[in-house]
This record gives sequence, C-alpha cells and structure tokens, in this order.
Amino acid sequence: MRMWLCPRTRVPVGASALAVLVLCWIYIYPVYRPAGHQEMVREVLDFGSGWRRNRTALDSIRKQLDDCCDPVRLFSVTKQNTPLGENMWFDGEFLYSLTIDNAVYNLFPQDTPFKHPLKKCSVVGNGGILKNSRCGEQIDRADFVIRCNLPPLSREYTEDVGSKTQLVTVNPSIIDKRFQNLLWSRRSFVESIKAYKQSSIYMPAFSTKRGTEPSLRVYYTLADFGTNQTVLFANPNFLRNVGKFWKNKGVHSKRLSTGLFMVSAALSLCEEVTIYGFWPFQMDLNGKSISHHYYDNTLPVTGIHAMPEEFIQLWFLHKSGVLKMQLAQCTEEASPQKSQ
Ligand SMILES: *[C@@H]1O[C@H](CO)[C@@H](O)[C@H](O)[C@H]1NC(C)=O
Ligand SMILES: *[C@@H]1O[C@H](CO)[C@@H](O)[C@H](O)[C@H]1NC(C)=O
Repeated sequence: MRMWLCPRTRVPVGASALAVLVLCWIYIYPVYRPAGHQEMVREVLDFGSGWRRNRTALDSIRKQLDDCCDPVRLFSVTKQNTPLGENMWFDGEFLYSLTIDNAVYNLFPQDTPFKHPLKKCSVVGNGGILKNSRCGEQIDRADFVIRCNLPPLSREYTEDVGSKTQLVTVNPSIIDKRFQNLLWSRRSFVESIKAYKQSSIYMPAFSTKRGTEPSLRVYYTLADFGTNQTVLFANPNFLRNVGKFWKNKGVHSKRLSTGLFMVSAALSLCEEVTIYGFWPFQMDLNGKSISHHYYDNTLPVTGIHAMPEEFIQLWFLHKSGVLKMQLAQCTEEASPQKSQ
C-alpha cells in the first residue's frame, strides 16, 4: 500500500510547476485565437473591392435564419406572437419569466410594423472606422436604415454616417446612465430622440430583469409627449434563438452584440444588406489608429461580447456575397452601388 503513495510525493516540485505553467500558457494563449488586426487587414486588402452579391448564398443563409429564428414573425413582441397571459422567459436571465398581463399586452403592436420584404437596408455599427468615411450619403440611400444604441447624428457626423433612421436600438442601461432612468426630467430624452425622426425604437425589455422598467418608461414617455417615434420591444425568443444560431457557428460570447442581432434580422427582413462601421480593431486599413466609436473612445466592458469572433463571421458573409461590408471610404466611384 505504501508503495503506491511514495512515487506521487516524489514528483519533483519543478515538474509540477512546469505543468502548471504550460496549462496557464495554453489558457492565456489558446491554440485557436481569433485573427488579429494585422492578419485581418491583410485579408481585407487581399480580397480587394471585387465584391459581388450571391443570391444562392443569401437564400441559403436566409433559409437557415428563417428556420431557427423566424425574424419576420418574431423580431419584436407583438400581440400576434405573444398572447395575453403568456409566460415570457427572459433570454438574459437564468430562469426568469414575466406573465403578460393586460397593462403590458396593450403596449404591443398588433403586428411588426414593417412592410416585408424591405428592399435595400443599411445596418450601421458605430465603429471608429466610420469617422472620415464619407459614407453618410450612401447609408441614407438605402430604403431602411438600422442604427445601434442611440448613436449621435448631429451635423458634424452626418457626412460620415448619414441621418436617415428607420430603426434604432436602445440599451436600457443608457436610459439609466444618460437620462437618470427618466425619473426626473424626461424632456432632454424627448429632445435627443428627435434626431431619429419617425424611427422605431427597439428595446430589449424582456432580456434582463433590470431592463424592463426603463424600457416601459421609454414607451410611456414617448406616448405622453406624443412623439413621432414608436417603441418596439425585442422578442426574447428571437434573441435567444439568434444567439444559439451564432453559437453553433463558433461565436462564443456571453451575449451577442446588438450589431450582430441587427444584421441577422436584416438578412431575413431585407433583400439587400450593406453593413457599415463593423470593424472591432483599433487601426484602420492603412494602419492608422482609430477610436473605438465614431463619436468617442469609450472601450466596451470586457468579457461580454466577442467582437473579433463576430467580425470573422461577418467577413465570411461578405466574402460569400451574402451581404456587403463597407470598410473603405465611400468615394465617388464606389458610390453608385450596382446591385445584382
Ligand atoms: C454562390 O454561392 C453558392 C453557395 O454558397 C456557391 O456554390 C456558388 O459557387 C456561388 N457563386 C458564385 C458566382 O460565386
Ligand atoms: C413629427 O414630425 C413632423 C414632421 O416630420 C414634425 O413637424 C413634428 O414637429 C414632429 N413632432 C414631434 C413631437 O417631434
């Protein structure tokens, strides 16, 4: 019996320390790592501007998205897809649900208020690569423009990002941060939302417990002030299924970014999708340092999103002709978009 124990205690301390070191090394530098900025720049430049839309590839991914997530029907919460009394499970909480009572049910539109299919759509991420891109006009030329998280559209940015908006997402946390949860003056919120004209305001009201109240406040505020915007609540079943869809394709993050949710919806809702400002690196294609957003350099909280992994997926969609990813400046010769 004793013989068994002895050899184990004799393992040299040096060897076990080495083993721990190797394990740490593998943990910090896993064999698979998402592409770095330089590899990506080389890849983008090598691919060049010879992009062509591929109907077959688009139809194939659209079918996959329709099968898993049914964006046309489930994109937002409506009276049709969420009956009174339903127990709605939140997608961002562990086992938490809300029973839809009369008061909440009455906030839902009968059906998703978009004409389907939408023709040309621009999905605008907020990446610093948009700064000095002069893409504003091209973005606005789409029939339907989707923007993320109440981005500033003031005059200084219009040339680069445009101003047309049909859908803008709002994260409940910025209602708290920028507008004191609408508990005090609501006027500054109403003023700032004017930039989005007749847009729908898309809020994940049923994803996290904390997000519900601010989302409902936004709804009531806009209703009370009689603004031109309408509020749509993200359907947690849609978000959950889109999350699974991308997880199966190798995006390992706690939660997808709003941008990828919107691109996924657009691929299903729109005939043609062009995306702007999706570039999660700190340098542009010329190696020039850029800010994180086109309007500021606030870095994201780490450990929630997996931006480079998401980017690889979007880049793959670009390469296969499913959508067009605009990374270069929108120069004159590039602007008359030939659609095939
Ligand atoms: C378009 O995509 C399909 C399916 O992904 C592929 O088989 C086909 O070769 C592509 N066509 C062109 C012209 O690239
Ligand atoms: C709604 O839009 C119209 C025309 O676009 C504008 O005249 C009006 O001031 C807007 N109302 C509000 C409350 O912003």
